[in-house]
Amino acid sequence: MRPADLIHFKQNRRPITVLTAWDSLSAALVESAGADAVLVGDSLGMVALGHATTLPVTLDQMLHHTQAVARGFRAMPSQQPLLICDLPFLSYQCGEDLAVAAAGKLLKESSAAAVKLEGAEPEVVAVIDRLVRMGIPVMGHLGLTPQAVHRLGYRRQARDRRSQDKMVQLAKELEAAGCFAVVLEHVPDELAGRVRRDLKIPLIGIGAGDDCDGQVRVTADLLGLTDKQPPFSPALIPGQQLFVDALKGWIDVQRASSHISSDHEKHQAWS
Ligand code: KIV
Repeated sequence: MRPADLIHFKQNRRPITVLTAWDSLSAALVESAGADAVLVGDSLGMVALGHATTLPVTLDQMLHHTQAVARGFRAMPSQQPLLICDLPFLSYQCGEDLAVAAAGKLLKESSAAAVKLEGAEPEVVAVIDRLVRMGIPVMGHLGLTPQAVHRLGYRRQARDRRSQDKMVQLAKELEAAGCFAVVLEHVPDELAGRVRRDLKIPLIGIGAGDDCDGQVRVTADLLGLTDKQPPFSPALIPGQQLFVDALKGWIDVQRASSHISSDHEKHQAWS
């Protein structure tokens, strides 16, 4: 799968599915399930590394996890989902040269074929323009942008008409800068519909309603594995409970087993 395929999907009204992965095991699951694209999101900082936010995630960690995800794919390279890697906090906010070096490293040292970055401030749009011109496909991300948690919090964004108009404008700027798709997170449904209709590139929603060209979800949320379930991303199964019950069952069986002989019996058996 290539970035251009997602644009063709939008043109053909074929819904796009994107799931996150953070290691080989989760990669094999989402690939087998048939996701069009796999995002190594910096949500892995919370999902897999135990951080309270995505801010501490480093470029080296993103590379390490992206390489692991790539190793988890089973299909021939041409049949694999599009692999997209998040640029972590401070890897693209400190200037275009550093952003190109960071994104280039991810594409050079893993099989990621695109990066995602958050926001549409003029500096970010300039970075996107430069990355795209350097041959690095970019997915944008608007609405709730977790790297801006200290400015925006985790609440629903663009709740009034003025900020919705602004969001439509920002999405168009991301498209003009060369993004091949835009993620829109935790905004009113009607705004997503407006943005979708105004863009030629796909709008991928999360907590943005159904009127999008595709949907992205954090796989650990869908599988019910995370402690803090986002209100806009309900679990499909109570994964944590299912796994704990299965493991507890195994532990109970071991404890109830009469195979382990007492120290005295062991001593006799070995002598
Ligand atoms: O980091 C991530 O997993 C993301 C998704 C929520 C889109 O950015």
